[in-house]
Amino acid sequence: MSFIPTGEPRRKVTVASLRDKKLRHEPIVCLTAYDYAAARLVDEAGIDIVLVGDSLAMTMLGYENTLSITMEEMLHHARIVHRGVKKALLFADMPYGSFHVNADEAVRNATRFVKEAGVEAVKLEGGEKRVDLIRRIIDAEIPVAGHIGLTPQSTHAMGGYKVQGKSLSDVEQLMRDAVALDRAGVACIYLEGIPREVAALITAEVKTPTIGIGAGPDTDGQVLVFHDLLNLTFGPPAKFVRRYADVAAVITEAAQKFRADVQSRHYPSDEESYHLPKETKQALETVLDRKRALSR
Ligand code: KIV
Repeated sequence: MSFIPTGEPRRKVTVASLRDKKLRHEPIVCLTAYDYAAARLVDEAGIDIVLVGDSLAMTMLGYENTLSITMEEMLHHARIVHRGVKKALLFADMPYGSFHVNADEAVRNATRFVKEAGVEAVKLEGGEKRVDLIRRIIDAEIPVAGHIGLTPQSTHAMGGYKVQGKSLSDVEQLMRDAVALDRAGVACIYLEGIPREVAALITAEVKTPTIGIGAGPDTDGQVLVFHDLLNLTFGPPAKFVRRYADVAAVITEAAQKFRADVQSRHYPSDEESYHLPKETKQALETVLDRKRALSR
């Protein structure tokens, strides 16, 4: 359902409008995108935030996890997505290693996303322990999105992709993380892979909009990975994924039909071919006729 009356042009989404949405209890909708076509379709579908997530390491680049993707690879995709996004807010993930060495390097990398790729906010994983760094980036006039709970860049430290926040002490830590990010002034907080009860508590506690993925229905918004939404991930989906279309089946069928048409010489048809202008065709026939006559 759209909250914009029909006929009224859609406004550019901003960090401030995310806060307004939280205050008005209007759900925020975020999807990832990694290329121009997806960016245009997602933006034109009225999605609020387009996230160039480091999940692109797996969905687009075929890496095993998000740890190997580089700044250059993230920037390359962020630039492409920027060309397709007009109204949505454009976020990009700071990849693993780009903010872990020192704060100066982290700020330099965050500014590259803004200067070189037109990104409007950078997202980085981690709570309390990243807050000083997040303040430095915000001081450089760059909005930051927080990301806590199941943080895929910590896969080795967490012992795999596991739902977080199941024990009381873990719930308390998540709450401290969320409050620290809230106080630091982040644009929003992504809550990934945590029990819905914990996501609801955090959402009620902080002024910052929360955006959930595998965090139940009580957050201020929801995000899904584009490839999960469309069944382009070549594996069983996580519990929270809802498949909205089977694009893998559509692509497979189209590719198989194309192969069959080429092999049976049904593609291309005469209608799908270019033709010579009438006069050129006649002139060519005359030339060919003369050549044939001479060779007899
Ligand atoms: O990388 C990503 O796509 C993400 C979302 C799942 C939140 O971080």
